This record gives sequence, structure tokens and C-alpha cells, in this order.
Amino acid sequence: MNHPPIAPDRLPELLRRMPKAELHMHIEGSLEPELMFALAKRNQLTLPYPDVASLKQAYVFDNLQDFLNIYHAGTQVLRTEQDFYDMTWAYLQRAAADQVIHTEIFFDTQTHTGHGVEESVVISGLHRACVDAQAQLGLSASLILCFLRHLSEAQAFEALEQALPQLDKLVGVGLASSELGHPPEKFARVFAKARALGLRLVAHAGEEGPPAYIWGALDALKVERIDHGVQAMKDPALMARLAQQRIPLTVCPLSNIKLRVFPSLAQHNLGQMLDAGIMATVNSDDPAYFGGYINDNLTQTFAALGMTAQHAYQLAHNSFAASFAEASTKQVWQDRLAAFFDSFE
Ligand code: ADE
Ligand code: ZN
Repeated sequence: MNHPPIAPDRLPELLRRMPKAELHMHIEGSLEPELMFALAKRNQLTLPYPDVASLKQAYVFDNLQDFLNIYHAGTQVLRTEQDFYDMTWAYLQRAAADQVIHTEIFFDTQTHTGHGVEESVVISGLHRACVDAQAQLGLSASLILCFLRHLSEAQAFEALEQALPQLDKLVGVGLASSELGHPPEKFARVFAKARALGLRLVAHAGEEGPPAYIWGALDALKVERIDHGVQAMKDPALMARLAQQRIPLTVCPLSNIKLRVFPSLAQHNLGQMLDAGIMATVNSDDPAYFGGYINDNLTQTFAALGMTAQHAYQLAHNSFAASFAEASTKQVWQDRLAAFFDSFE
């Protein structure tokens, strides 16, 4: 890619304005405290915090499990189709403001069915917001159902079964929640079934867990992308495979700092990953909890690691290439990205 040189002080603006895709964002993790309180009121529920400020003060985590406990508590306010719509619409508007032109949204169903909400209610609310995003924001949005890995294989099968009437509203399935002690192999059969149904496959692996979980996600689950994957750097043979096979990693830098996967952004391995030829992307994971949406992730990580406009182009290009859109659509987005860089001044 040859484009006019871009001065380092223009990088934040470049990052904010460039078209991009987001491929790793849990919709329940986009539920901002203000909306959480509004939904609690609407559903006549009481949150265990008196106000927004005290809830926000609780957003300090030592590890993934610590975060998941609070995250699951927050999902209790989601009861109706309109609640799921409102949460999703708020994220989609925020994403459009960050020049996200395509997003693949993760959602849980097991969390909500555990609260007595029907799976069809969840999927309908999310999907209606995605349809409106295309029409009103020009933002393409699709849905990925994540199985919760701390629950059983039988429960994952049940979640997939309940989604069957709305399969046309999903692009794929993923695997999320507590990683350590829950290796991918536990879900090999349910992923095989999802694959047979024509769904695309992703899984969280190597966030806190070892490189062996990334091998397991690739070989036992046959996933096409790895969510996080930052622990791959510990295994040179795995790094070589990820680079050679162009397996995308959906990296979430601010999440990794908040959950203490790296001590600071300056010690994050995103720059090394890109320089090693890994097809990395940058994403927000759970933006309402981790202090920023996709552009915050990009601008803060670039500043901490001294990354360049070439890295920015690479990351945005990767985000489209790694998406589950049609090849012709990806090409349109990549042409738009190239035109943006050419005309940036
Ligand atoms: N669910 C929501 N965010 C998650 C994360 N970062 N890792 C695993 N499961 C999640
Ligand atoms: Zn995640």
C-alpha cells in the first residue's frame, strides 16, 4: 500500500476516521451503567448499587472471572425484546460514530435463558436492531451466538437447538466465559453440529489460557478465527501456524489490561504479533466495562506502542479480510479503506 506519508501527530485522527470492522464485542458488555439503571427501572428491578457512580467504582478486576461475575449480574436487567433492541441499538450508534462499517456481534443466550428469558426474545431484539442499523446507519451487522464454556456440553447443545428456528439470523457460533479449566475439546461435538448447519466458527482461546487451548480451538473445534489468542506468543510453532495459515486473531488491548493479562499497554504484544505476520485485528470486547470502544482501543494502543500508519492500514484491512462477509463485499470495503488512506490529508 503506497499512500502519502502521514505525520505521527495525525495518527489519532486517522485511526478514528478510517473505515473498520469490529469482530469481537459482546453485546452484554456494551450495556452502559446509565442504560442498565434505566432498564432496571423499566422492569421494576433493583440493582445492588445505589447509583451509576457506585456501579462504575466496582469495575476494577483482578482477572477474567472477577469481571464475569459483575458482567453476569448486569445482564439481570435484560428482560424484554425491547431491552435487547435498546442495548444493541445503543452499541450500533456508538460503533457507527467510530466509523465501524461492519460488526459481528457476540451474544450469550444461556445467561438469559437462565433468567427465564426465552432465547427467541434475545435473538429477535438483537436482530431487529441489526436490520435498523443497515437501513438507518449504513452499518452492516451480524450475530454470533457464544456458548458459555463453564456450562456443560449438553447445555450448549440445548442453546443451539433453541436457536434453530432463527438460524437465518445468525452468522456463526463462538465460545466464551471462564477459560481456565474449560478446554475447547469439551465442545467439539456441538461445534461440529454448528458447522454442519452452515454456521461459521470462532472461539475465545489463549486469553488467560495456555497455547494448548489455541491448538485445541483450531484442531478440535475447527474454528476460523481465534478470539484474543495473545498467549500464542509463548509457542513459536503455533505462531508459525497462525501466520502461515492466515488465521485471524481478534485482539482486545484494553480488555487485556483491565483483566491483567498484560501489566500495561506498553507491554502488550499487538505490535510484535503484526510484525511476526499474524493477521491481528483490534476490538473492544466489553466496552462498557473496559474503558473504551474500538477507537479508544486503537488510539491508546498506538500511542503506547509507537505504532504507525502502516499498522493502522494493516489492522483495518485485516478486520475486513477476517470478517464473515462475502468476498465481493470485503473487496468493496477494502477499496473504500484504500481510497480513505489515499485521500487523507
Ligand atoms: N465474555 C465477555 N467477555 C469475555 C472475555 N473477555 N472472555 C471470555 N468471555 C467473555
Ligand atoms: Zn471476548
